[in-house]
Amino acid sequence: MSYISIIGGNRLEGEISLQGSKNATLPILAACVLCDGPVELFNCPDISDVRDLLYALSCAGVKSKLTGHRLELDGSDAVPFFFGPELAGKTRGGVLLLGAFLGRFFEAGMAYPGGCVIGARPIDLHCKVLKELRVITEEREDGVFVKGRPRGGKVVLPYPSVGATENALLAAVRAEGTTKIYGAAREPEVAELCRFLQKAGAKIEGVGTSVLRIEGVSRLHGISYTLPGDRIVAGTYLATAAMTGGDVILRNTTGVCMKGIFESLRVAGLTVYRTGDAMRLRASGKRLPVKMLKTAPFPAFPTDMQSQMTALLTLAAGESVICETVFESRFGIVGELQKMGADVSCDKQCIFIRGGKKLHGATVTATDLRTGAALVMAGLAAEGESRVYGSEFIARGYENICGTLSLVGAKMAQTEEYEEKTENRVWQQKDGNCETEQDTSSALRQFV
Ligand code: EPZ
Repeated sequence: MSYISIIGGNRLEGEISLQGSKNATLPILAACVLCDGPVELFNCPDISDVRDLLYALSCAGVKSKLTGHRLELDGSDAVPFFFGPELAGKTRGGVLLLGAFLGRFFEAGMAYPGGCVIGARPIDLHCKVLKELRVITEEREDGVFVKGRPRGGKVVLPYPSVGATENALLAAVRAEGTTKIYGAAREPEVAELCRFLQKAGAKIEGVGTSVLRIEGVSRLHGISYTLPGDRIVAGTYLATAAMTGGDVILRNTTGVCMKGIFESLRVAGLTVYRTGDAMRLRASGKRLPVKMLKTAPFPAFPTDMQSQMTALLTLAAGESVICETVFESRFGIVGELQKMGADVSCDKQCIFIRGGKKLHGATVTATDLRTGAALVMAGLAAEGESRVYGSEFIARGYENICGTLSLVGAKMAQTEEYEEKTENRVWQQKDGNCETEQDTSSALRQFV
């Protein structure tokens, strides 16, 4: 088992270079399959969700090489492929391979990506948009199979699903005719995907709005592209600075859209200064409870900051309420923060925080990416030592979180826990009697 060990109480102070955006990178990796030449991506985050998606792509013949934060990717030898459960379920971004491989080969197949602790994560809207592009869609026991060249038409999303919007874009850019997507998600990551596709030759209008118009083209070409910084990681690290009473500057933040995040920090009494490519949060000791914070699709307060804000508000004296409207069971943070002494509870969709008590270190377990990040934040603000198990979830979206935060004063380290070998050893005595001894060292002792 691996965990992050943390000694809390240090103020975070200094500069961090912000990593590339996980949720912009994953759809753009899928989009590279549509390009008939090599693609070069800069500022690519080195996180396990990216590596898992690159592995899935490699199974379909896509070559890639990640050197530092520069990714070279060549899909020219890609082949039509069925992504089985072990590949489709690895990362949520995998569902986007459906639209990408359909857009490239006019056929694709994928096992159901499956749910996770934050919700069932169905893909009914993904199937809906592909059907509206008049693609033959078969939902079988073992997965979803789509076939036929997408034909331009009217796509209507009853809910602005980020992934379903992205799949519709990936399928429509090489469709026959023009497609209009109504009710599209407006998250910055969707706009980034549009910009990548436009640079590769796609014809898309309405970028950043809920109505997208895509004129199908016959081919997309290879390009070089720089990925934006990760707005959720930025919000996480700024909130961490606030929780430790610190002063942190984030670099490499040009173009990072913080709409919905800065507002939530501001109502909690925290001001973020932004100049050039930097964002700075200098904690003033003032932390205000927030009467009501509600997660919703962009440009509202993002669900991916919900766990982190919950952790932050445990330190603000008074009653705060956060209601989660995007995922049905994104409340893993509540039980774990209680172990650290926080007075926090949840009912159907809302989290109730009675903040103001000091947190104390504890052994806690992350069950998803953002809960894990929030528990690290709480551990850094708590008195004493904490252990955050489930650090593999954090590695899915935060690049080297221990190294990054240690640079600004955090006392934390990734720790591997080896199963202590407890072996009953029967030592044969010279006189024929037997003596049993427990050997708890994992190193083999030399028999003498
Ligand atoms: C993306 O997930 C992000 N992931 C999520 O970030 C983010 O929380 C989410 O968008 C909302 O902003 C990536 O981009 C890789 P949705 P996605 O489709 O596309 C329901 C993180 O921590 N729904 O907008 O899966 C769904 O169950 C992750 O970085 C359907 O019912 O989100 C959810 O309740 C977590 N049917 C809601 O819509 C569908 O076919 C929003 O889902 C699709 C979605």
